[in-house]
Amino acid sequence: MRIAILSGSTRLSRQSHRVALALKKWLEQHTSHSAEVLDLAEYRFPILEEVLSRHPEPPEGLEDFAYHIRQADAYLFVSPEYNGSYTAALKNAIDYLKEQEFARKVIGVVSVSSGPLGGIRAALAMQQLVLGIAGYPIPQMLTVGQVQQRFDEEGHLLDASFEKNVRHFLESFLWLSEAVCTKRKAS
Ligand SMILES: Cc1cc2nc3c(=O)[nH]c(=O)nc-3n(C[C@H](O)[C@H](O)[C@H](O)COP(=O)(O)O)c2cc1C
Repeated sequence: MRIAILSGSTRLSRQSHRVALALKKWLEQHTSHSAEVLDLAEYRFPILEEVLSRHPEPPEGLEDFAYHIRQADAYLFVSPEYNGSYTAALKNAIDYLKEQEFARKVIGVVSVSSGPLGGIRAALAMQQLVLGIAGYPIPQMLTVGQVQQRFDEEGHLLDASFEKNVRHFLESFLWLSEAVCTKRKAS
């Protein structure tokens, strides 16, 4: 499978990107799936003026982003909690695309916070987003509290006890993703 990890924080001194990098590392170390991070801070999409399919002059990088989204078989959405939800950058990027890009594909959500609660409100809001784009959510969510104590800037785990949270979440994500991917490709 090809797994796309959307890194949803564009803030200059962001911490959540560490988690996206950590998920990629885990998938590469423990599975034979390919995992790539689509970094919204690198894409720097402007606020939506028109969806991609109707845009007379699509913003730079948008066709490339859409290509990588289309190629992927499953997704991980990683976002910090900002004012009780996920980032505007994540919503903006997804709104450019057609919902069919995500249809019949599994999407796991990962929320990040510098505080102790792990951004659970962002995770729950992302679960709603997954339904809105016709993806298949998984019941498990990974919430990463006190992110600066859990991962370093390159996505290495600083807190060994947190590995089981990552593993349980990703194993659940892969269990459903692999089943859905096999079925989708056969039909
Ligand atoms: C605009 C903004 C709003 C935030 N709102 C919340 C919030 O609602 N809940 C929370 O736990 N942390 C909140 N935070 C703190 C984030 O948890 C913190 O910035 C963390 O490092 C993850 O976000 P980052 O990837 O931007 O670093 C907020 C941060 C910013 C910049």
